[in-house]
Amino acid sequence: MRTDAQGLALTTDNDAAVTAFDGAVEAVAKYRLDATPLVKATLAADPGFALAHCLKGYLPMLASSRATLPLAAAALADGTAAATGATARERRHLGALAAWQRGALDDAVVAWEAILVEHPTDLLALRLSHFIYFWLGRAADMRASTERAAAAWSPPTPGYGTVLAMRAFGAEECGDYQAAEAAGRHAVEIDPGDLWATHAVAHALEMQGRADEGVAWLDGLAVNWGGRNHMIHHLWWHRALFHLERGETDTVLALYDDKIRNLSAPLVLAIPDLYIDIQNAAALLWRLEHLGVAVGARWGELADKAEARIGDHGLIFTLPHYMMAFAAAGRDQAAARLLDAMRDFAATGGGGTQAEIVGAVALPVCAAVLAHRKDEHARVLALMLPVHARIVELGGSHAQRDVFNQLLIDAAVKSGRRDLARSLLDTVNAAWTVGANRRGYTHARAATA
Ligand SMILES: [Fe+2]
Repeated sequence: MRTDAQGLALTTDNDAAVTAFDGAVEAVAKYRLDATPLVKATLAADPGFALAHCLKGYLPMLASSRATLPLAAAALADGTAAATGATARERRHLGALAAWQRGALDDAVVAWEAILVEHPTDLLALRLSHFIYFWLGRAADMRASTERAAAAWSPPTPGYGTVLAMRAFGAEECGDYQAAEAAGRHAVEIDPGDLWATHAVAHALEMQGRADEGVAWLDGLAVNWGGRNHMIHHLWWHRALFHLERGETDTVLALYDDKIRNLSAPLVLAIPDLYIDIQNAAALLWRLEHLGVAVGARWGELADKAEARIGDHGLIFTLPHYMMAFAAAGRDQAAARLLDAMRDFAATGGGGTQAEIVGAVALPVCAAVLAHRKDEHARVLALMLPVHARIVELGGSHAQRDVFNQLLIDAAVKSGRRDLARSLLDTVNAAWTVGANRRGYTHARAATA
């Protein structure tokens, strides 16, 4: 028996395995590319280390793709076979992986939270529950989970900065921008390469309309992003949003081609259809076109990637982004197939937490995205207004979901529903410090004045 970097018991007697395992957990927390080789090194040192098999299964789950589910299932089987003599905490992790792998996201977070009651310094349980809460749109749970554990963490504990970063992002999504910025900046002082803390502060600045500071913040930290995974594309996406707000659309397009959706970049070549990349790209092209900027043929390759993912509901926030690509590229058949696959998933239960949300929320939102492109604005309103309050359940951040506010309010304006548009603008104003006082709402503000 050994202990991990946070002092929790590990069922292994191999020091090399412990060192590599601690490195792998840190790599996950810091979005580093060496998580997979470190897990491999862990299991090479001790093939009977159950929690390392579990971590090997968590990694492909983070890709949120049906293509990687068999990898997670194989690791789960190996971990289960090795779990004789493992601690209750380690066995609970295997239970969480089993739940996650079958799509039972609620059961997975229950398992991680059960671990955290006894072991609040379990960095994996904290980080993964944070991830799932985020993609279920449960900001209050995301914040509460980290805050419950926070008292057990102090600066000397490895991973302290990661916990600060999670506290920062939880605070930001709950509208506490001051707390978010303080915790996020503190984490970046500890490690300038802390992407999640960098990201939390970028969000806090975005929500307050501080575009100049946002550009400076990300510009000053980008030097630390080497050896990181696709999360860096999302940080470039945030930077593009700041430039968009400054009216620098040429810069936004250049960032799109060079940093956000560079099809020649090694990360994109390795995984060309990762959910976060598709979301970044589609949402940015949509916002550009909404401002009247021509984006050329950029939609086509996104639509290609999306067609290959029809029927994959691993991360449902991506679905409306697939539809943005189909609608923009004029792929009506693909759009119909996407909606059919979502109906099937919802009807059969899909085995998990997200099936009801797909049927009740994602389906009308996707149909509305298509209708908006076809200028069927009354239909957009009929589809989206009944589920407006539930769009949060698609997951993602306020900043990401804002594209749906822009779409809905645009449809209200173009339907001649000025009072409705004004009321929806008020909702945006209530939710954000900078509210609808942004470029994406310029036309709607003018039309309702
Ligand atoms: Fe973000």
